[in-house]
Amino acid sequence: MDDRIDELRARRREAEKGGGEERIESQHEKGKMTARERIDYFLDEGTFHEFDQFRTHRNHKFGMEEEQTPGDGVVTGYGEVNGRTVFVFAHDFTVFGGSLGEVFAEKVCKVMDKAMEVGAPVIGLNDSAGARIQEGVSSLAGYAEIFRRNTEASGVVPQISAIMGPCAGGAVYSPAITDFTFMVKDTSHMFITGPDVIKTVTGEEVSFEELGGAVTHSSTSGVAHFAVDSEEQALDNIALLLSYLPQNNVENPPRIDPWDDPDRADDALKTIVPNEPRKPYDVTDVIGSVFDEESFFEVHENFAKNIVIGFARLNGHSVGVVANQPRVNAGTLDIEASEKGARFVRFCDAFNIPIVTFEDVPGFMPGTEQEHGGIIRHGAKLLFAYAEATVPLLTVITRKAYGGAYCVMASKHIGGDVNYAWPSAEIAVMGPKGAVNILYRRELAAADDPEVRRQELIDEYREEFANPYTAADRGFIDDVIEPPETRKRLIDDLEMLLSKRKSLPDKKHGNIPI
Ligand code: COA
Repeated sequence: MDDRIDELRARRREAEKGGGEERIESQHEKGKMTARERIDYFLDEGTFHEFDQFRTHRNHKFGMEEEQTPGDGVVTGYGEVNGRTVFVFAHDFTVFGGSLGEVFAEKVCKVMDKAMEVGAPVIGLNDSAGARIQEGVSSLAGYAEIFRRNTEASGVVPQISAIMGPCAGGAVYSPAITDFTFMVKDTSHMFITGPDVIKTVTGEEVSFEELGGAVTHSSTSGVAHFAVDSEEQALDNIALLLSYLPQNNVENPPRIDPWDDPDRADDALKTIVPNEPRKPYDVTDVIGSVFDEESFFEVHENFAKNIVIGFARLNGHSVGVVANQPRVNAGTLDIEASEKGARFVRFCDAFNIPIVTFEDVPGFMPGTEQEHGGIIRHGAKLLFAYAEATVPLLTVITRKAYGGAYCVMASKHIGGDVNYAWPSAEIAVMGPKGAVNILYRRELAAADDPEVRRQELIDEYREEFANPYTAADRGFIDDVIEPPETRKRLIDDLEMLLSKRKSLPDKKHGNIPI
């Protein structure tokens, strides 16, 4: 037996070498960890259980039969992060550039299937040259098998991608379907076609970084939710993100022991929203004050900054936060903000995470760029996402709630469970100035001093409509609350709503305006 055990150990050592010392060194020189180093760093010590360490490809073309590396370029298995099971696959760039062939894909599919069966998140650590050229259509078939599983797993188990090297061509579509994508600055790139092909086809010259680096994708395209400085930071943040999430769609998110006083009433909230309605403020100050101290974990921080999304805790309970950001474009909803918000709302709804919405929105962004870009259908995504959400929805209007945007932002009418307004709230079809210009156009044209008259009418309108009391009179707002009370009220309501059960009519699926 001993000699057989020796053989097994020798085989394991061989597999663990991946593409060999030289390529491991080259990986390190690029500032990248190897697949195994990443897994070791990410998982709780001693918890990794590897599958398929001895699998090799079946390809006999291009002299590939001579090149067999156990594991075939991807390390797969399961382990624990902070004591909770996760499935992982990590591309090994030292083996055929981490390129994906038939067996490689089968290994990835195996962990995805198992993750679905047991209900645990799947974390993909991507570092791959794409489809393995020597394996031709079998590689493409492998990708498609993975894409189908990504799609089936969507809304069943959380799927998180970290891009830690190249991710090009068809390979991008697996991370694109997953729920959250992290990119490491400088060492990761994502694109459909690289700079050389772009130059040939369109004549455009662009660098790798500018085309598909972490900064580009986390701020301009929105493909990545997080751009981080190092691989360690990506892995630490994935672990933190997981702490807010349930393991699957039939579990609730885990509550952690609360550390912040649920009755804490912060007087600073009385002054954060300026009296002057056009003056900006930073909604993250409101978020920082209301939720458990230091619990806000922002998602998509640098993309569509006019809306803020992320996870936070209320008395230890995990919640999703969506907030208009008056500091950027006055918090208007545009195409990108609508998409950003909609996808996040759908994620929270799929995974039983209650949503707290802070509303201060003057409306949808006007202009031909937005209209021709399809703000109508893109804005409808956010509306649709909120309207189909069955998780607890708690809404606080801090200032403006105008027009269609009032309806969209988790209003009572589309399913808000608890809707509050601060005394500074202005709930109306449109802002006072626009309304007066339309309603009193003739009167103003005939007035001796139109500016004086306009101001009088604006003041009257504000008195009549730009306050929360008409909405409160109709029951569209459950209560007008003092800002420092917000934390306590939200905690009480959230705890009341945790047992909420609501289901939509049976159907195959809705048809969100994508
Ligand atoms: N299929 C099979 N092997 C591949 C491969 C692919 N698609 N891409 C790279 N490799 C191999 C290389 O032959 C090399 O093998 P070696 O270590 O035995 O020499 C190894 O992977 C590393 O590639 P290399 O080009 O030396 O690394 P790099 O860091 O300089 O460049 C890329 C990385 C990804 C930019 C470059 O390899 C590339 O452009 N590959 C093709 C990407 C592509 O178009 N894929 C298809 C998209 S679906």
